Amino acid sequence: MSNRVKFAVVGLGHIGKRHAYEISQNDNAKLVALCDILDPQELGLTSDEVPFYRSLSDLLAAHPDIDVINICTPNGLHASQTLEALEAQKHVVVEKPMALNKQDAESVILKALQVSRKVFAVMQNRYSPSVKWLKQIIAEKRLGRIFMVQMNCFWNRDDRYYKAGGWHGSPDMDGGVLFTQFSHFIDILYWLFGDICNIKGNFGNFAHQHSTSFEDVGSIIFDFVNGGMGSINYSTTVWDKNLESSITIIGEKGSVKIAGQYMDKLAVCHIEGYDMPELEAINPPNDYGSYKGSASNHCHVIDNVVQTLNGSTKVATNAFEGMKVVDIIERIYRVRGASESVNR
Ligand SMILES: NC(=O)c1ccc[n+]([C@@H]2O[C@H](COP(=O)([O-])OP(=O)(O)OC[C@H]3O[C@@H](n4cnc5c(N)ncnc54)[C@H](O)[C@@H]3O)[C@@H](O)[C@H]2O)c1
Repeated sequence: MSNRVKFAVVGLGHIGKRHAYEISQNDNAKLVALCDILDPQELGLTSDEVPFYRSLSDLLAAHPDIDVINICTPNGLHASQTLEALEAQKHVVVEKPMALNKQDAESVILKALQVSRKVFAVMQNRYSPSVKWLKQIIAEKRLGRIFMVQMNCFWNRDDRYYKAGGWHGSPDMDGGVLFTQFSHFIDILYWLFGDICNIKGNFGNFAHQHSTSFEDVGSIIFDFVNGGMGSINYSTTVWDKNLESSITIIGEKGSVKIAGQYMDKLAVCHIEGYDMPELEAINPPNDYGSYKGSASNHCHVIDNVVQTLNGSTKVATNAFEGMKVVDIIERIYRVRGASESVNR
């Protein structure tokens, strides 16, 4: 097709390679350029068919015809590189988190509005069958009033992940486990139930004092602005491999629990006058060798970009939602700052 949407991927590590692959698999998309500060050889790129650049500015200068830039670099670069791409009049797909603070996310939104371009925040777990189903039953108000929501995110991130000299674990580039590991789940919480307030928390760094300055466990309690209360327990101290990502919802007319390693298994569905439908099979999680991430749903992300730019749908996770997740995490971390001791 001659009117395929033209993409370039910036940052060709674990997830950038997946973006590039999914673009190449989409009949309505074309991968026209790649960028990383490392050499293609160092990145393990085997083909030189797609032009490669060592900086985003060089790429933008060489390809004025590109439609979309996919930002897949470390978290701390997302906002500035998104601004640079918007300044060059490109649409942007930005990996999670969209920024490491609300102020930077707001700057991105203002710039996108100024240049009339779209920002797609990556939150591919929304495409998981269990999460789509939850969204539907909450929207249909099948649980009635929501009284309590409890989320558990218990993952493994050890020295196989936090390596000396890498960006993981750095306050400026990583920002903390709520940004890097669990922002998908904060997004789901916000997508389903809206904003939170009255946040209180308890945090500790039990197993990563040698590798990160931020916490590796947290227990947070809060109220939902729309009613009901909630809590999140999270940790990256789990030995050897990820243990659980789950959500339990207690409502006026029923209870639901989605469990499994990646919030993928329906464990409980007990709702007044409602029979549980069969859910679609899930995509496997992204596998990075020594550790695993969230569901591999990036094909849907690319498809949403193509269809949105072709005018047949709207942005699945827009920049306002991306900003709200950043805002919620920032407010949780403000509580962390007030807690007595981070290192235990
Ligand atoms: N949606 C998901 O499920 C998911 C999964 C993994 C990672 N991510 C996000 O994707 C981003 C990248 O994570 P990753 O695991 O692929 O990291 P990674 O370290 O494997 O890859 C990052 C790449 O960016 C390159 N880079 C660094 N600075 C650059 C610059 N100035 N210009 C161009 N390239 C630069 C690095 O050389 C590296 O190749 C992070 O923000 C992370 O939070 C999202």
